[in-house]
Amino acid sequence: MKGVVLAGGLGTRLLPLTKVTNKHLLPIYDRPMIYYQIQTLVNAGVTEIMLVTGGNNAGDFLKLLGNGKEFGLKHLNYTYQEGEGGIADALRLAEYFTDGEAICVVLGDNIIQGNVAKSADQFRRQEKGAKILLKEVKDPQRFGVPVLEGSRVAKIEEKPVHPRSPYAVTGIYFYDAQVFEFIRTLKPSARGELEITDVNNAYIKAGSLTWDLLDGWWTDAGTIESLHLANQLVSQTGANELDLS
Ligand code: DAU
Repeated sequence: MKGVVLAGGLGTRLLPLTKVTNKHLLPIYDRPMIYYQIQTLVNAGVTEIMLVTGGNNAGDFLKLLGNGKEFGLKHLNYTYQEGEGGIADALRLAEYFTDGEAICVVLGDNIIQGNVAKSADQFRRQEKGAKILLKEVKDPQRFGVPVLEGSRVAKIEEKPVHPRSPYAVTGIYFYDAQVFEFIRTLKPSARGELEITDVNNAYIKAGSLTWDLLDGWWTDAGTIESLHLANQLVSQTGANELDLS
């Protein structure tokens, strides 16, 4: 399985912090934000990784990460997303890199306490379709929210005003190569983006989406409040550390 970290977009919700630098280069406690998602992939046994970046200071990622030696990698792949066309638009750019293999996609502002090694192994055995990871949260309206029918995810609603479950769809996704076919069928949403939630709903319609609950804390870091919370959580417990094996 290959890995993709999506670190495009303009980070406008963090202005003025992102006026002269890239959101994913901002510090989370003792490391730049982008370190955490690469570690998440490495801990799941993924060694071939592509970073999709965009916006300001894209060249600084190369200076910071090089070929990924600090993470035990031999090589890191990079590509650049023009503008802010959405998460699925950024993922589109990784098609040639993934070359038909299954992928684990991590959003560049998602940080976890533990690891996703168990789910990654389950997905390696799943062979086709997609897998998402859910986490119970206090503010589901900020996220993609699953509508559950028994133990089945019937659909996902993006930032619903009235969430129909207390869960967020976290920004760690497992996909087979069909993901790129689904992306080609997408139309921009009301916020002008190609939505990853529409991709996940396409897998639900195809009957090939599975899900797991994520253990340990999870947070995004895309707003001032969540950036602050991420710093607190990492300083208190560390990230990517909880042993869930
Ligand atoms: O954090 C999980 C949530 O992430 C999910 O629950 C939602 O379903 C999903 O849509 C997403 O919601 P956000 O609106 O919070 O995503 P945001 O626009 O903040 O983007 C998250 C990361 O995705 C960002 O740090 C980098 C990457 N991204 C985003 C956009 C819009 C890109 O690479 N390119 C983009 O154009």
